[in-house]
Amino acid sequence: MRRHMLVGGAARRLIGPFLGSPEGRPFPPNNNNNPFERSLRQLSGAGALPQLTKDRYPQVKRRDFAELNEKHLGYFKNLLGENRVITDKDECQGFNIDWLKSVRGYSQCILKPKTTQEVSEILKFCNDNRIAVCPQGGNTGLVGGSVPVFDEVVLWTGLMNDIISLDENSGVLVCQSGCILENLENFADERDLMIPLDLGAKGSCHIGGNISTNAGGLRLLRYGNLHGSVLGVEAVKADGEVIDCTSALKKDNTGYHLKHLFIGSEGTLGVVTKVAIQCPPKPRALNVAFLGLESFDDVLACLRQAKRQLGEILSSCELIDNPSLDAVTSHLNLKSPISVYPFYMLIETHGSSCDHDEEKMHGFLESCMSDGLVRDGTTTNEIGKMKAIWELRESITEGLLHDGYVFKYDISLPTREFYSLVPVMRERVKDAVRVCGYGHLGDGNIHLQVTLKEFNEEVLRIIEPFIYEYTAKLRGSVSAEHGVGFRKPKYIHYSKSPGAINLMKQLKVMMDPKGILNPYKVIP
Ligand code: FAD
Ligand code: MLT
Ligand code: ZN
Repeated sequence: MRRHMLVGGAARRLIGPFLGSPEGRPFPPNNNNNPFERSLRQLSGAGALPQLTKDRYPQVKRRDFAELNEKHLGYFKNLLGENRVITDKDECQGFNIDWLKSVRGYSQCILKPKTTQEVSEILKFCNDNRIAVCPQGGNTGLVGGSVPVFDEVVLWTGLMNDIISLDENSGVLVCQSGCILENLENFADERDLMIPLDLGAKGSCHIGGNISTNAGGLRLLRYGNLHGSVLGVEAVKADGEVIDCTSALKKDNTGYHLKHLFIGSEGTLGVVTKVAIQCPPKPRALNVAFLGLESFDDVLACLRQAKRQLGEILSSCELIDNPSLDAVTSHLNLKSPISVYPFYMLIETHGSSCDHDEEKMHGFLESCMSDGLVRDGTTTNEIGKMKAIWELRESITEGLLHDGYVFKYDISLPTREFYSLVPVMRERVKDAVRVCGYGHLGDGNIHLQVTLKEFNEEVLRIIEPFIYEYTAKLRGSVSAEHGVGFRKPKYIHYSKSPGAINLMKQLKVMMDPKGILNPYKVIP
């Protein structure tokens, strides 16, 4: 076991700001490291454009929405000004293609509101004129929900990026929905607080997109999901009515908890315009361990030990299999700090006392090594080294894209069965470039990936619906954290009862009777 243990003064360096330091962020906005910008640049050759969704999925038919005309455009330009109504074909392209380059719409109009009032007026007009709308944040969604299927108008929230307030006593931050997650993180960090959500796309994704997908991320194990940490939401309904549920109170049982309708509804029930989120204090001590293990049984034993021995300071417990790590070491030229093993675990602690946390981490690692569970590993509390280890994990999504086409699955399974599907899938899809699994072991959420040189419908039929049937048999979820989007509506019955699906449909009809908000998504 290699150690990068620092004690005394060196360990205490962690007390200073770490999240806000400008260097080494995984994916800063407007920077070459931004994965979305990189993947769009790779699209510059026309041959690399993904097929239009309407051609790849001809069974999905355009609904009876209005086609955009000069009168409509005139209204939008009058409301927002010429500069915030984009109709240039090239400029529209980036808003029409998803991050995975798996779907492509042909919207000819991107709207860039700055205020809730503008969103309200846009939606009222679209509703009155039966114009379909696709809300879009950072466009990092992984289920094809963030881009139009046909010619829906894109309502982009990127200019709604004001941080409105942060109460340093309660830790409640209120902001507009288009704030980039990493900017919020930096803002909170400067005030000795943190945002309770972190994910590899933080340099591009918006808090409104995070809420609309109920994003899980890398530390859900410790900080819970957004249904808990989001205290309030302001959203605009399809008819333009503003629903103000921006309570910043921890406790508020006055009637139905309507904010939950907008958390995870993927732009189908309303456009989220403001958010109140609870920020926990920034941890004063951090440790990261990167461990090599021989078998999944050893991984499970190590997880049990981590929960028992690290207890309340355990903030993340991620699994990476060897082919997943290979995607970043071979395609992105990142270096693993340890040699090759079938499985790797990334274990992180967040606490308030360096000595206490280090002692716990040492105790945990010693028992894992003496039980023969961990074969090699490295542990560190140095900022640069922790970042480098996290970069390995956070870059897998991007590394896999370099194989060609990624069939991405995001499922919850009982922990015992967490990895069971990966070897089964390897047997089924013989000519894949790679079949691999990684993800949030501590939350029972694996990302199973099948990569090919290019999209292949036959392979798709070998994978689906098999993967969903397998998941349903184990009473898992066919979408653990990425949502349903365009890719999964016809599979949600594997995880939702007919009664629950029916209630979803009734809610949709009540809140968006003309169905203008993100049509063809989520609802089967
Ligand atoms: P978009 O992609 O723009 O939109 C996502 C959905 O929300 C769409 O249906 C869209 O219509 C809707 N929407 C967006 N903004 C609004 C709004 N203001 N009002 C109403 N609807 C809206 N996801 C995880 O859960 N965990 C992870 O760990 C994770 N890691 C990722 C790592 C990488 C490298 C990438 C590329 C993606 C990752 N994702 C992860 C997926 C994605 O980042 C999240 O789903 C994120 O929350 C999407 O935010 P966004 O602003 O990009 O939303
Ligand atoms: C992750 O955990 O890295 C994200 O959910 C993205 C992915 O599934 O690749
Ligand atoms: Zn994930």
